[in-house]
Amino acid sequence: MKTEIQKRRTFAIISHPDAGKTTLTEKLLLFGGAIHVAGAVKSNKIKKTATSDWMEIEKQRGISVATSVMGFDYEGYKINILDTPGHQDFAEDTYRTLTAVDSVIIVVDIAKGVEAQTRKLMEVCRMRKTPVMIFVNKMDRDGKEPFDLLDELEEELQIHVRPLSWPIEMGVKFKGVYNLYEEKLDLYTPSKQTITESVKINDVNSPELDAQIGADLAVKLREDLELINGVYPAFDRETYLTGDVAPVFFGSALNNFGVKELLDCFVRIAPSPRPVAAEERTVDPENDPFSGFIFKIHANMDPNHRSCIAFLKICSGKFERNTNYRHVRFDKLMKFSQATAFMAQKKETVDEAYAGDIIGLPDTGNFKIGDTLTAGEVLHFKGLPSFSPEMFKYIENADPMKTKQLTKGIDQLMDEGVAQLFTNQFNGRKIIGTVGQLQFEVIQYRLLHEYGAQCRWEPLHLYKACWIECDLPEVLYDFKRRKYQFMATDKQGRNVFLADSNYVLQMAQQDFPKIRFHFSSEF
Ligand code: G4P
Repeated sequence: MKTEIQKRRTFAIISHPDAGKTTLTEKLLLFGGAIHVAGAVKSNKIKKTATSDWMEIEKQRGISVATSVMGFDYEGYKINILDTPGHQDFAEDTYRTLTAVDSVIIVVDIAKGVEAQTRKLMEVCRMRKTPVMIFVNKMDRDGKEPFDLLDELEEELQIHVRPLSWPIEMGVKFKGVYNLYEEKLDLYTPSKQTITESVKINDVNSPELDAQIGADLAVKLREDLELINGVYPAFDRETYLTGDVAPVFFGSALNNFGVKELLDCFVRIAPSPRPVAAEERTVDPENDPFSGFIFKIHANMDPNHRSCIAFLKICSGKFERNTNYRHVRFDKLMKFSQATAFMAQKKETVDEAYAGDIIGLPDTGNFKIGDTLTAGEVLHFKGLPSFSPEMFKYIENADPMKTKQLTKGIDQLMDEGVAQLFTNQFNGRKIIGTVGQLQFEVIQYRLLHEYGAQCRWEPLHLYKACWIECDLPEVLYDFKRRKYQFMATDKQGRNVFLADSNYVLQMAQQDFPKIRFHFSSEF
């Protein structure tokens, strides 16, 4: 079992839309033999043209169930790539997916550098100390000076970087990269299918380098390498594993360049499943019996088949088909005959799976995000926070005959993690918080089609919802009394302060220094 677990590499590729995440994923699958022609991956990316048409988006998301997890074998390793939605309105989905991975590859466009979405996602990685590797893409195009880009990465992503490959020119003049990890020269030939031509160069001072790329470029490369080795400490796997240093690779996913090198280094240095913190104790992937948690629930959009797939990350041990496991929240035993594994893009029934793997469990409303399954022990995994939403609306019942259906629908959709529900303590009204406008449309549509309930939205202008805590009950009481119109509870009944502007929030923090304000639900 230990060998199986140590072979697992479970990770996500994240990027700002258009940096090349889909292209890179596809090329990795090509190397893994999971697909045989480029273009076979139905992108989870939501096409730009469809941004206002959310039904289309949901359809695309439906297709993407198959690509939610892409598993394949590569050189004795079992790779699981977790796909993340590109559309920023689904950022919350991406945050949750990041809780289920052991490491992350960030794709950055050489011309655009660090973009908004990347910065945000990196915050989540930093919070969790997830090891991060960076792939600088589109070297076949002109872009930023590589040293400038490294500075930008360090500054914007707040992480140290260490180049493990170095580009020789870029754009039309792009010659290839020097691979510092394997000490070889990878020469670039634009092609969508072939593998890079490499020359092993043990000593960059050898005339072989001049022969390959010309004397001028060889001089420049030697200078660059000297600078790199002078400025950046030698690569140390430990600092990568603790999330302090991100190794950087350069390449062109579209031209299949630098991808195999990335993958080869990745499987060697990336972590196998790591210990996971539960409220009760830390769970050891290799030595503990089966445990796992639900990090994502994918609803079937077909109203005739109201079944969902709950995605479970196995944290420890081995999952077996038809074996009784404890659903901790319900305190009941459940067994699964139809769990699915995701191999080579096909879904297949799984007989056994190991820590690091993701399995899909058919669900008819038994699961919510964060639920734990174990071999018997009571465990609650930490690290599945909700973040303060960015958009808020009151949700109102538009069909008084269907109140029950509406309540049930809202309840289940929130358990699925579609959005967050708060109840205003002043007027008892229900508030839905999301990260994007699309979710409101999704909720309205699903309430009608899946629950037969109708809702109306009423605008509500809020800046942030933050969870508050205080050790002194009288201070908390005083705060709640003074802010009574802006107090709410979340689904677990915890106190939430609804700040309608940044100014109000700052004033509240200033006036009540003893109160702790949290911007994510886990504290
Ligand atoms: P995303 O998932 O991160 O959103 O990005 P995606 O892979 O879809 O790539 C975005 C665009 O960038 C695509 O072009 C893709 O072909 C292009 N691209 C990816 N890697 C490279 C690269 O190394 N060099 C160059 N020059 N382009 C690259 P598109 O025109 O938007 O889409 P398509 O019509 O080519 O599919």
